[in-house]
Amino acid sequence: MIKSILSRAVQSHKLEEEEIILLLTAEGKDKERLFEKADFIREKYLENKVFLRGIIEFSNYCRRNCFYCGLRRDNKNLIRYRLKAEEIIEMAVQGVMLGYKTIVLQSGEDDFYDGDIIAWIIKKIKEKADTAITLCLGERDYYEYKLWKESGADRYLLKHETSNRTLYHKIHPGMKYEERITRLKWLKDLGYQIGSGNIIGLPGQDIKDLARDILLFKELDVHMVGIGPFISHYQTPFASSKNGSIDLTLKTIAITRLLMPRVHLPATTALGTLDPSGRKKALLAGGNVIMPNITAAEYRSLYEIYPGKISTDEKNTHCPNSITKLIKSLDREVGIDYGHSPKGNNFA
Ligand code: 5AD
Ligand code: SF4
Repeated sequence: MIKSILSRAVQSHKLEEEEIILLLTAEGKDKERLFEKADFIREKYLENKVFLRGIIEFSNYCRRNCFYCGLRRDNKNLIRYRLKAEEIIEMAVQGVMLGYKTIVLQSGEDDFYDGDIIAWIIKKIKEKADTAITLCLGERDYYEYKLWKESGADRYLLKHETSNRTLYHKIHPGMKYEERITRLKWLKDLGYQIGSGNIIGLPGQDIKDLARDILLFKELDVHMVGIGPFISHYQTPFASSKNGSIDLTLKTIAITRLLMPRVHLPATTALGTLDPSGRKKALLAGGNVIMPNITAAEYRSLYEIYPGKISTDEKNTHCPNSITKLIKSLDREVGIDYGHSPKGNNFA
């Protein structure tokens, strides 16, 4: 049964919801076969390159109150910080000198930075350094997204987190599922390469929701999908909930690879946080991207979306470190170009 589902997925890159559910519940030999097929598709379409994206977490202020996240506005026990525009630009330029060809600018939803200042930061980075820029700044106005695209931004990450509307509304007070999806469509229409993603093991989520998440990634035809396990944070309403499953996360990554052969799939930090070999396992189950944190050391521990978030010696790509060693040990190589989406929407 699983074998025939897998061989059809490898050929057509299409599956029904029920078939995805069967793969998500695969165990033993069947599970290994799923990972092998995902690895096969990854190699067939994307060869052996692993792309690195250097992340700068420039502000941990957030106006939102997501039930799972340590940066939520009601968490009064967190020391908040904001980097100045010049510091962000400097950090980005340094990141490019360290070898990154994509810089990700990430923050909580922080209106302190208006549309114009973000546009200025993007322009300055592009003037000073040869890099692609990904933004991950949450929900903003159409005209801000448009301005940032015109200022040189290449990509935008906005995870839909869960496709279960009822659950989405319960855990994201004041937010609307439809507005999230509308924004992903705007961003795509504006010419961004877009990234979505979900959290595996959210309290109240079931296996059907995960199958629908995968079908939604495909329907939205996103360029990148960030899939990570839920990690319980002690200063949130989900303090006593249990963490998401590594295995289920890996299976979700693998099925997404089968259905979206050219999509970028990061081996997420959340996976590496829950399991020391989590990122390796993800690279062997369809993953092809790693996003090391290049924020200055003094701010790292304050960007605590979940506890224990790893940030290691992974900054400099020119000399061997844990990430480049991992990539080599798997007989892969670090991608040396921008790593734009090979799906061919906007870029050569
Ligand atoms: N566990 C796992 N992922 C989390 N995120 C936020 N909090 C958690 C958590 N407790 C993820 C969300 C968000 C990204 C910035 O971090 O998916 O999009
Ligand atoms: Fe803010 Fe993002 Fe955390 Fe939600 S997940 S509280 S929007 S930083």
